[in-house]
Amino acid sequence: MFSWLNIEIDVSISSAAYIEWINLVFFYSVHVVIWVADTENTSLLHSRKLPSWLIAELRSDHAGEMGAVYIYKGILRVTRDTRVRQFATQHLKTEVKHLELMETLIGLEDQSIFIPLWRLAGFFTGAIPALFGANVIYATIHSVETFVDKHYQQQVDRLLNELEHKELAKVIEGCRQDEVQHRDEAKGFLLRSPGPLLRAWCWLVGFGSRNAVAVARWR
Ligand SMILES: [Fe+2]
Ligand SMILES: [Fe+2]
Repeated sequence: MFSWLNIEIDVSISSAAYIEWINLVFFYSVHVVIWVADTENTSLLHSRKLPSWLIAELRSDHAGEMGAVYIYKGILRVTRDTRVRQFATQHLKTEVKHLELMETLIGLEDQSIFIPLWRLAGFFTGAIPALFGANVIYATIHSVETFVDKHYQQQVDRLLNELEHKELAKVIEGCRQDEVQHRDEAKGFLLRSPGPLLRAWCWLVGFGSRNAVAVARWR
């Protein structure tokens, strides 16, 4: 399928998509059990006691961190570049920590119902640029993390302004600082300035991120 790029990735990507379908069936099965049983919230902050705007924000954070984990999984599935693999492996570790943190902040019943979609979208947001080399990967990560920095900053500002949930503001600020580090590292590794096509791709990534957050806030 991608032989013209001398990259044999078609089988691994389709097997990953197959695994995602199994994940999707499992995910919705668990949700059905929760809806039927109305299981008590086990999250650290008991997210149902938080204001609805904050639950929506945390839902979008959790969905975003899930997407971030899968972006790096997508990169690692495709790339054979040693430096990129080191970059993606280190970032993946941080994103897994962020995701685990978010899972302590929001109960399963308040998580986005589109989690399988965020996993797939994240995977292809990492795998597609990885087909085209290191520069496209770094530009994509720079674009994603620029968006995430602003997303977390507006939450921190609102939490501090409302003088409530200051501890939560600190937690989100910690994640934001990691994302800024990821953004700056990606920018530092860029081999050359992005051309028009790559800029268009990065715009699409930012557009997709904005819309994904809007959907995840809703449900
Ligand atoms: Fe993150
Ligand atoms: Fe990140």
